Amino acid sequence: MEYFFLTSMVHYSKNESLILLYAEMIVDIFKEGMTQNNSARNEAWKPQGKMQTIQSKSELRKAIKSVKSKGKTIGFVPTMGFLHQGHLSLIRRARAENDIVVVSVFVNPAQFGPNDDLDTYPRDAQRDSDLMAAETVDFAFFPTADALYPKGYITYVEVQGPMTQVLCGRSRPTHFRGVTTIVAKLFNLVSPDRAYFGQKDAQQATVIRKMVRDLDFDLQVVVCPTVREADGIAMSSRNTYLTPGQRTDAPVLRRALNDATKMIVKGERNPVVIRQNIEKQIDGVEGAVIDYVSVVNGHSMEEVKTLNGEVLIAVAVKFGATRLLDNIRVEV
Ligand code: PAJ
Repeated sequence: MEYFFLTSMVHYSKNESLILLYAEMIVDIFKEGMTQNNSARNEAWKPQGKMQTIQSKSELRKAIKSVKSKGKTIGFVPTMGFLHQGHLSLIRRARAENDIVVVSVFVNPAQFGPNDDLDTYPRDAQRDSDLMAAETVDFAFFPTADALYPKGYITYVEVQGPMTQVLCGRSRPTHFRGVTTIVAKLFNLVSPDRAYFGQKDAQQATVIRKMVRDLDFDLQVVVCPTVREADGIAMSSRNTYLTPGQRTDAPVLRRALNDATKMIVKGERNPVVIRQNIEKQIDGVEGAVIDYVSVVNGHSMEEVKTLNGEVLIAVAVKFGATRLLDNIRVEV
C-alpha cells in the first residue's frame, strides 16, 4: 500500500509537472493499508489490562503520575464522544505508537456558541466505553463540566489573528478559543507524549499545532487522515442529525472537492476558478447552503491568490441545521 502511494505521487509529478498531490483519494487507499498494519501491530500489543474509567481530575493525575514514573509513553485522543470510525482510527494510531492510551470524552460547552447544538449534541457514554474498551484504551476520562469549569472560571487560551477568524472562525467567533482552552487544560492533566487529531477538522488541527508551539507544550501533535463512509462523506458525530434526504445529498461535498483535485492536477492554479466550481456544484443541490468555500494557505489559513505550496481547500455546508465540513490538502 505504501508502494502504491509513492508510485502515485511519482506518476503525478512526472505527468503533471510539479504537483505532489496529497489527494485523499490516494491517502484513503494508503490508510487502508495502515489500518491493516496497525491491527497487525495491535496483536503484538497485548491489552494493557482492563480499561479504567476515570471521572475526577485527581484520580487522572494519580494514574498519569504512576504511568510516567515507570517511563511509559502516553498517547492522548481528546474527543466529544459519540465515537465513530474516525475517532477509532486516532485511537488505533495512538495504540500503535504509545505504551499507554488515554481518551477523553467531554462535550465542551466553551466551544459552542449560543445558537450551536450543545444541548442536542449526541451522547452515548456506554457505547463509547464499549468501543474504547474494545480498542484496549487504558484510561477513559469522562470529566464533568463542573470539574473543568468550576464556578468563577475565567481563564482562556486563545490563538489570535486570521488563523482563528477565517473559515469556521467566521461563523463561530468564540469556537476556537473554546477548543484551545479545553485542549490546553486536557494536555496539562494528561501530559501526553503525543496527541492525535483528525484532518477532517483541518483548521482545528492547525490552530492546536500553533498553540502547542507558542505555549511550549512538550508533545507531538499527530494529524490523521479523514475516515469516510462508503459514499465519501466524512464521518462525523453530527451526521446522525441528517434526514435521509440530506444524507443522500451530503456526498456533494466530497464530489466537489474531488473535482477540484482533478482541476489542479490538470494545471488550474487560480483559487477563484476552483472555488466557483465547488460552489456551483454545491449550489446545484437543493437544501445545501454554503457557509464557506475557501482556498487558503495550509499553515496560516489565509486566502491564497494563486495555488502555491501547501494549500487547504475547505468547505462548510449546512443541510438544514446541520453543518458539515470537509477539506483536501494539496502541495503544489
Ligand atoms: P470530536 O468532534 O469528537 O473529534 C475528536 C477528534 O476526532 C478530532 O481530532 C477530529 O478531527 C477527529 N475526527 C472526527 N471525525 C473524523 C474523521 N471522519 N476522520 C478522522 N478524524 C476524525 O474535535 C473535537 O471533538 C473537539 O473539538 C475536541 C478536540 C475534542 C475539543 O473539545
